[in-house]
Amino acid sequence: MPKAANKRKRQTFAIAILAAGKGTRLKSRLPKVLHEIGGKPLLAHVVAAAAQVVPAQNIFAIVGHEADRVRAALEATGISFVLQREQRGTGHAMMEARAALTGFEHVLVLSGDVPLIAPATLTRVRDFHTQNNAAMTVLTAEPPDPTGYGRVFRRVVKGKPTDEIDRIVEQKALRGNETKQREINSGVYAFATGPLYEHIGKLGTDNAHHEYYLTDIAELLRKAKKKVVALKADEPAEVLGVNTRMEMAELDARLRARKARALMEAGTTIFRPETCDIDEDVTIGTDTVIEPHVQLIGRTKIGANCRIRSYSVITNCEIGENVLILPGCILDDSVVRNGARLGPYSRLRPGCDIGEGAHVGNFVETKKTRLGRGSKANHLTYLGDAEIGAGVNVGAGTITCNYDGVNKYTTTIEDGAFIGSDTTLVAPVRVGRDAYVGAASCITEDVPQDSLAVARGRQVNKEGWAKERRAKVNAARK
Ligand code: UD1
Ligand code: CA
Repeated sequence: MPKAANKRKRQTFAIAILAAGKGTRLKSRLPKVLHEIGGKPLLAHVVAAAAQVVPAQNIFAIVGHEADRVRAALEATGISFVLQREQRGTGHAMMEARAALTGFEHVLVLSGDVPLIAPATLTRVRDFHTQNNAAMTVLTAEPPDPTGYGRVFRRVVKGKPTDEIDRIVEQKALRGNETKQREINSGVYAFATGPLYEHIGKLGTDNAHHEYYLTDIAELLRKAKKKVVALKADEPAEVLGVNTRMEMAELDARLRARKARALMEAGTTIFRPETCDIDEDVTIGTDTVIEPHVQLIGRTKIGANCRIRSYSVITNCEIGENVLILPGCILDDSVVRNGARLGPYSRLRPGCDIGEGAHVGNFVETKKTRLGRGSKANHLTYLGDAEIGAGVNVGAGTITCNYDGVNKYTTTIEDGAFIGSDTTLVAPVRVGRDAYVGAASCITEDVPQDSLAVARGRQVNKEGWAKERRAKVNAARK
């Protein structure tokens, strides 16, 4: 092989993510790696970090417990999957991935349940591993409380610990003084695939869980005179694992605090960040103000100069600039354009498009509705499957009757129309440009442009009727 090609092969890295376990300690029906923190499955966080380091097709998630669900949840990332049919330990998971990984010179191994790992740390591990020409590199850390983690014991030369690892001991196997060991195994490793697969067959199951521990390979490789080194993470919080729901809540809080900090650093005001839930993938423009107790979920994008008042929950929405969202709005999968004003207590169900400068007021529910530029629906209204033009005024208590129990129909209201309060619009129906609909009308037929439609019973006043009735009632009582 020519020298250049040889060098290229030497540096090929795959990433394997261990994600086949059940997560017994969560006591859940959902596989552990699909539990969400920061609004995303644990495994999705790990995949996102991995994808910053190697191309997606070189990432292999090892799945097993509820493999189909895990695969379906991560399909869109373009990574590959390896099936570990039976979960017989982290070492066994790597045995099962042999065919997928042997074509690569090295493999970085990550855990699906260590979600805060940063891409920069992965490249540090990779570089330390190749610089040391190591067979195995273990990312370690010294968190304040090491309980539950495997501990890393370094080789000591002349009383000083070296970079080289002697062995890794699981929490349950620690004896006597060993429990005092503070340096933990993060579950993040780099391996040269040659020595890994040459020696992996020697792993045994003589341990508390009767499983093949990947951690035991450290001692096996060392005994085979291969180099096994440790690299300590700068930030122990980055390698915290999730084994219990308590730990999940802690990591979720950490992620959200980190997200809020990043947003504030980039120019968003968040008054009580600890009360807000802002998902990892949310973006917010400059000088937008987020009041306490706001939730911004999924792929929500908010422009500059907006104000999102308390108790609003916004999921997968695109909000323009200068938008005011008053308290208590619930918005799903919709677009809100520049200068619009919503709430208090507006409900946008999926598929709405609220135009520039439009107003949607209190107790107004919309679904699959386009409200044109400058149009207003301010009070107690239901707009479903509606196409509403610009400059339309929708009076209080208006209802689009879009459903006949079987099918859904569209209501169209053209530019400049005025819909009086308490109107019901029985779809399919169209109100023409600049037309008026009288209050309390039940509109069942199209209203031509520039006309007035009144569709209600005429008022009848019966003079003296109430007085006569009172007299009758009083007479009957005597
Ligand atoms: C593991 C390490 C421990 C380390 C800790 C860091 C072992 C034996 N121990 O312990 O030293 O401190 O991680 O977080 O490796 N998995 C599979 N297939 C299996 C079993 C597990 O894919 O058969 C996956 C799990 O889904 C999980 C990861 O491997 O994502 C780690 O397994 P887990 O059981 O959580 O190991 P820990 O007890 O945390
Ligand atoms: Ca774990």
